[in-house]
Formats: sequence, C-alpha cells, structure tokens
Amino acid sequence: MKVYVPPIKCQGIKTKLVPLILANVELSGRGTWHEPFVGSGVVGFNLRPKRARFSDTNPHLIRFYDAVRTSDITPQTVREYLEREGAALAREGETHYYAVRDRFNRNHEPLDFLFLSRSCFNGMIRFNKNNGFNVPFCRKPQRFSAAYITKIVNQVKYVWEAAQLREWTFKCRSFEESIQDTSEGDFIYCDPPYLGRHVDYYNSWSLDDERRLRASLEKTQARFILSTWHSNRYRRNPALETIWAGFNVVTKEHFYHVGAKETNRNAMLEALVMNYTPRCTKEETGKPEQLSCV
Ligand SMILES: C[S@@+](CC[C@H](N)C(=O)[O-])C[C@H]1O[C@@H](n2cnc3c(N)ncnc32)[C@H](O)[C@@H]1O
Repeated sequence: MKVYVPPIKCQGIKTKLVPLILANVELSGRGTWHEPFVGSGVVGFNLRPKRARFSDTNPHLIRFYDAVRTSDITPQTVREYLEREGAALAREGETHYYAVRDRFNRNHEPLDFLFLSRSCFNGMIRFNKNNGFNVPFCRKPQRFSAAYITKIVNQVKYVWEAAQLREWTFKCRSFEESIQDTSEGDFIYCDPPYLGRHVDYYNSWSLDDERRLRASLEKTQARFILSTWHSNRYRRNPALETIWAGFNVVTKEHFYHVGAKETNRNAMLEALVMNYTPRCTKEETGKPEQLSCV
C-alpha cells in the first residue's frame, strides 16, 4: 500500500501503522469518521472517508488543516509562500528561522507553522508551557530547494483536493466533546499521547486522562480502534490489563532508532485496541507488511 505522508508531522505519527489500521476499519456507508486526536492526520487522510470530524486540542494543527479545507491555504499559496520565505532563509540563515518563529509565536499564522515544522530540528513540533513553539533550527539554510517545495506543495494538494470533495470538519476540542458527537455506524480512531511519555504542552497525558477516555468510549455506540503501546524489551503496558481489559488487541512490531546509529534499534510492540472482532491480524503471524511511503 502506498501511504500518503501529510505536510505537518507530529510526535507519535502513525505512518507505519496506517495499513493495519485501515485494514481493520469498519465504517458504514452513511457513517462518519471521527478522529479525536488527529495530530498530523495521516490515518484519516489515507482513508479519505466521505464524512469526517477531525479534532485535536492543538489549535495550530487544526487551524492549518481548516485553512486548507476552506482554501484560505491552497497549493498555490503554499508554493508562493515557501519560495519567498525559503529564499529569505537561504539569504539570512538561522536569523530568518528565528524571526519566523517569533512571528509565529505572536500571530499564529498557519503558513508560518508549516515553515517551522519543515525547517526545525528533526522536523518535530514541540510547544513550551506558554504555548510557544520552541524547536531550534535544523541548521540547513538551503532547506527549501525547488524539489523540497514541490514535495510539500504536493502533500498539501492531496489534503486540499480531498477536503474539497468531502464533508470534513476540523475542530479544536477535547476528546470528550469529540466522542460525545458519535453515533452507531460511525467509526472512531483514537490515538492519544502515550502514558508516561510527556513530550510537550499539547501532549501531556495522565492515568486519569486514560481512564476518562475509557469512560467516554464505553458510552459510544460506534466502533473504535485505540492506539497504544503494548510492550518493549523492558516492560508491558499495564493499562492493557486494567483500563483496556476485555477489548480485542492486535499488535504490530515497530522499530525506532535511538541516536544516529543503525545498530541502535529498539523494538516496540504497538497495540490496536478494538471494541469488535478484528478483521486483520496479519501482523500477529509475523508476516512483514509491504509498505512504502509517498
Ligand atoms: C499521538 S498524537 C496523534 C498522532 C496522529 N494519530 C498521527 O498519526 O499523526 C496525539 C495527539 O493528541 C492531541 N491531544 C492531547 N491531549 C488531547 C486531548 N485531551 N483531547 C484531544 N486531543 C489531545 C495532541 O495535540 C496530539 O496531536
């Protein structure tokens, strides 16, 4: 399966899990897709449902994608913006990166958010407790080459085209409000921050949050998949035997790197928790999944 990669990445992006998640989705023809923790949007954007409600408490992600939906941001405006700001970055180097970062922290312009996410260190988004974007520069002033700009423009074009033809909404709201909005025949994909891995202001997540999520999901008539971690070489996720006990679980091995060395690979088992019988558990049989990213 070719997996579309969105223009803005975020911590915990599920690019590698998209085929397994989509193979298990059961959304009725008249139903709505709900993603209360949409993040980068990689899961729902690959499914491209007719009707979708995408939500998140990070207002910058929502503002960006809603501007794409309303055509306040189009592939053309992205190209013009990146050509202009990319040229300034090439001329002025990190001074320009930090000028855009200051401007974004004052005005919260969605295109500045895109610029930062594509030129910051490691391409990740992170906010401090005053909601300020605080990732340093990637130290590549020539970042926005013609090919790189075209790649980003195409990533925006994919979401923009999909959103024009479909009934999609993007809302900044908590998972509780999103899940209250669901009914039978709908489908919910939940990908909360993982417990104990607090990474930034928008990604704090406590045991109490996890319990409240379970309580919300218990009330819904819709089918759901919840992403969480299953185990690594040191420990298992205790929430699977407590908070999520009684649901079906499908797992997939995932490798992540610590530092730059290829040898420093750590295996982690990701879990999909479902309130119905899984359709595809291929990963449990150990067969490698054919996956390429576009
Ligand atoms: C692991 S990320 C989602 C990643 C996404 N599935 C992807 O593949 O890109 C978790 C998201 O939950 C959001 N979030 C954190 N707390 C939340 C809450 N209480 N309600 C809704 N969203 C929340 C964060 O802003 C973050 O975007």
